[in-house]
Amino acid sequence: MPDPTEKHRLIHTPPARALVAPSILAADFADLGADCRDVMNAGADLLHVDIMDGHFVPNLSMGPAVCAAVRRACPGVFLDVHLMVSEPDAYVDPFVDAGADLISFHVEVREGMACRDLIKRIRERGVKTGVVVNPPTPAERVMPYVDLVDLVLVMSVNPGFGGQAFIPEVLEKARMIKPALRADQRLEIDGGVSPGNAERVREAGFDVLVAGSAVFGLPAGDRAGAIAEIRGPAGVASPGP
Ligand code: DX5
Ligand code: ZN
Repeated sequence: MPDPTEKHRLIHTPPARALVAPSILAADFADLGADCRDVMNAGADLLHVDIMDGHFVPNLSMGPAVCAAVRRACPGVFLDVHLMVSEPDAYVDPFVDAGADLISFHVEVREGMACRDLIKRIRERGVKTGVVVNPPTPAERVMPYVDLVDLVLVMSVNPGFGGQAFIPEVLEKARMIKPALRADQRLEIDGGVSPGNAERVREAGFDVLVAGSAVFGLPAGDRAGAIAEIRGPAGVASPGP
């Protein structure tokens, strides 16, 4: 089993460039392990695992068993689990046990002490932590927790489905969040990211770019090029505002 701290270095001391995290929601569910291995071989840095409960968002996606299957198929890959669920506390243990390396949850469902307690609970399980903010939610709502987490995820679509149009107004949130982050913390963006908008996203300060349909939606031979375009030039960390 790969050394978890090695994988966690990806978050705390990443290469000086953006990280690309294909969302498996857009993968071929009939051949999920092979499709995940393909995007990793095409240059992806980690995999984004979208968990939807049909309540917080109007869609159902996958459960811990699918996460565990991806873990078996890709033993050394960093799994970034995004909980779009109304009761995130209930899913910490199942997804840690299923191989999650990071668990993020929405401030729209947990704030104040409940949010702090949940971050602490995830950390105590030995995995990385993230808080997520939806497009209509002001960036101010994540600021009380920024010093407690490893990553802040800014949604650039209203969550629930892949393949939606990018909402550029959310880029503005980096102006408030990025300056509050330490060098060992990441600013992630999720939803509608593509080679067409990735440069603008990186320049705004985002350094982990989730891309579902823009990667998994391509034929296998085209994925490496798309990942490279989304990542941008090496040696250029996301400058931020
Ligand atoms: C939406 C999910 C996103 C989505 C990304 O609720 O959180 O991760 O799957 O897919 P694309 O990149 O196709 O918008
Ligand atoms: Zn997501």
